Amino acid sequence: MDSTRRAFLRFLAASPLASLLTLPGGRGSAAELFAQDSSRRRPGYPNPPEPGASARHLIGSPEEALDVFELEAVAGANLPPAHFGYIQTGVEAGVTAQRNEEAWDEIRLRPRRLVDVSQVDISTELFGERWGSPIVVAPCGSQRAFHPEGELATARAARAEGHLQILSGVTTTSVEDVIAARGAPVWYQLYPTTDWSVTEHILARADAAGCPVFVITVDATAGSDRDPLERWARLDDRDCESCHTAYYSRKPMFDGLDMRDLEGRLYNPAMTWDWLRRLRERTQMRLVLKGIVRADDAARAVEEGIDGIVVSNHGGRAEESGRATIESLPEVLDAVGGRIPVLVDGGIRRGNDIVKAIATGADAVLIGRAYLWGLAAFGQEGVEAVLAILRRELETIMIEMGTPDLGSISALHVRQAGA
Ligand code: FNR
Ligand code: LAC
Repeated sequence: MDSTRRAFLRFLAASPLASLLTLPGGRGSAAELFAQDSSRRRPGYPNPPEPGASARHLIGSPEEALDVFELEAVAGANLPPAHFGYIQTGVEAGVTAQRNEEAWDEIRLRPRRLVDVSQVDISTELFGERWGSPIVVAPCGSQRAFHPEGELATARAARAEGHLQILSGVTTTSVEDVIAARGAPVWYQLYPTTDWSVTEHILARADAAGCPVFVITVDATAGSDRDPLERWARLDDRDCESCHTAYYSRKPMFDGLDMRDLEGRLYNPAMTWDWLRRLRERTQMRLVLKGIVRADDAARAVEEGIDGIVVSNHGGRAEESGRATIESLPEVLDAVGGRIPVLVDGGIRRGNDIVKAIATGADAVLIGRAYLWGLAAFGQEGVEAVLAILRRELETIMIEMGTPDLGSISALHVRQAGA
């Protein structure tokens, strides 16, 4: 056990915190470490909290959750520190991950009064298909590290709650099994590797499985510098080597491919617009780019015939730009001018944030960490709880805003703080 961890456990054992925390994960669990208050600004986030942070109430069932942070606390209690750290991590100091969350708070709402909101409709349309809400399940890899049912639990929850799911290319469950559990096609996020034949093979497999859209993540193309994860991992004294053998062996989308030379080369730093064009020629699937944050790239995407954009910085897990996605969204929207759908993700934790995204002009939002907390906390039911909380919060705030449907939410409903 390293000395930081020992010192912290000594501190915990001697503090009143010890009695507040349950330890379902047992020895090595993040419960021993996860001691934070329930304010929106979480001390230390995305790094491990400092000893001395106040303890957070742990709920015993998903129905008790008042907000997504109560599920985060249970996720922290259930997971070993390194796995919880993998969810939380940003890069370098974690500034961008934190900015993603905080910047939503810098936008103020301007509710409109005396509008009939006795019926509120949060449904939306993407590529001609109607969805019950604008809340999309983001592609997040390795979900069996958070719950034994992993992506299947997420798919069943997305099905129960009628949400669009985007499956990560580093899923720990095959696309075919996820679609069966979802009961409908999912969008497929493709990690290309540096080997064209691998890219082509996986693209064809997602196409054959029935995915109507594939997503290329254009950030984090060379890996990234995840210091917060390393800080969490230092607190974990389990033997990680026994599970973490060859990376691709736990990623069924690479089954049947010879990945020996591609270990550590999941991303393709050589991707260009030409490369994308070549890829598009291989398929009829729609193509969405995830990770665009600039007007010029957005304009080029439209020129190149790209079908949609996700304004994203990978949840602050790509580069430490210090720029929240809600700060990037307006220039992308200006450049796109309504010609293709624009979605946004990063730091979305409340219905309030979703209204602000829609008011700024986004067509839909993706949520990442929030549903992973639900998954780690209570499996499928936890993911369902997160989706239900966000929908309920969205409906509630729309009533207050005087906006009976998403189309009635406009720029007039928001102001930057101080404006
Ligand atoms: C991700 N994200 C991600 N993105 C992607 O394109 N492919 C992937 O495999 C993953 N994997 C992944 C794992 C984990 C644990 C997290 C937290 C995130 C990024 C994800 O799709 C999304 O952009 C962010 O999570 C959005 O920010 P929030 O909602 O987590 O703040
Ligand atoms: C991540 C990769 C898998 O964010 O996209 O961890």
